[in-house]
Amino acid sequence: MNKKIIIANWKMNGSFDDAQIWVENFNHKLAKLDQKSLSKIVLCPPAIMIDFIDELLLESEFAQIEKTQKNVAEIEEKELEKLVANIRKINLGAQDCSPHEKGAFTGDISAKMIKDCGANYVILGHSERRQNHKESDELISEKITAAKKEGLTPILCIGESKAQRESEEFKNFLKNQLEKSIPHNLKIEKIIVAYEPIWSIGTGLIPSCKQIEETLEFIKNELTKNKNISVFKILYGGSVNAKNSGEILKTKNVDGLLVGGASLDAEGFLEIIKSA
Ligand code: PGA
Repeated sequence: MNKKIIIANWKMNGSFDDAQIWVENFNHKLAKLDQKSLSKIVLCPPAIMIDFIDELLLESEFAQIEKTQKNVAEIEEKELEKLVANIRKINLGAQDCSPHEKGAFTGDISAKMIKDCGANYVILGHSERRQNHKESDELISEKITAAKKEGLTPILCIGESKAQRESEEFKNFLKNQLEKSIPHNLKIEKIIVAYEPIWSIGTGLIPSCKQIEETLEFIKNELTKNKNISVFKILYGGSVNAKNSGEILKTKNVDGLLVGGASLDAEGFLEIIKSA
């Protein structure tokens, strides 16, 4: 069965207390759902919270292991890692990473640091970073290279503005973003592309399912042409909530969702997961 991927992007929201309440509440309710049909869940909190959330998840995973097996202290490290990986339902991701490995880059966080905190994914090229931090496609391509080097799966965001959508030029714009943001000289085993029209992010406006289907079809054709990419998934993002998620997820070509505002509420996010 082809599982959907549902990603929560908390952006710069929540305190550590909020994060703890969210994780405990979400985890508790998630355990009651049918685990076989569960989508792949990726939680992208502010980077500073990744390690904290990883520890919270480990605590509950160790408790589960101890219920059925022996004391975790007696289990060999590699074996324990495997057991944890088998029961982990919430994957972790960051919202950005540096293109550099290390050095004098005040305020930046490297892909390795993210990996070391327990994350396996990283959102790159989100329109808020493109706009607020003037990130270019070229920089995003360097960040994808850095992420791949550490084994992080990149979640590349692309999307047009309202004016671009209204002109017939928006497909060319998306094609250009894909061509320039994805490194040319790198084999990419796995990449997630999130189509997030800028005019839809946080506005409550969403394209029709027909428009989503057509745009994703276009993106799919472009990615298929790229011989360096082995596996790709295409998500939709922008004003997704528990009311519209079911319909969007049923739309052709949609492999999953990238959810911003509606992911801050654990119960609302769980409803989105349930709609898959
Ligand atoms: P939104 O944000 O769901 O709040 O519209 C989506 C995103 O920016 O990833």
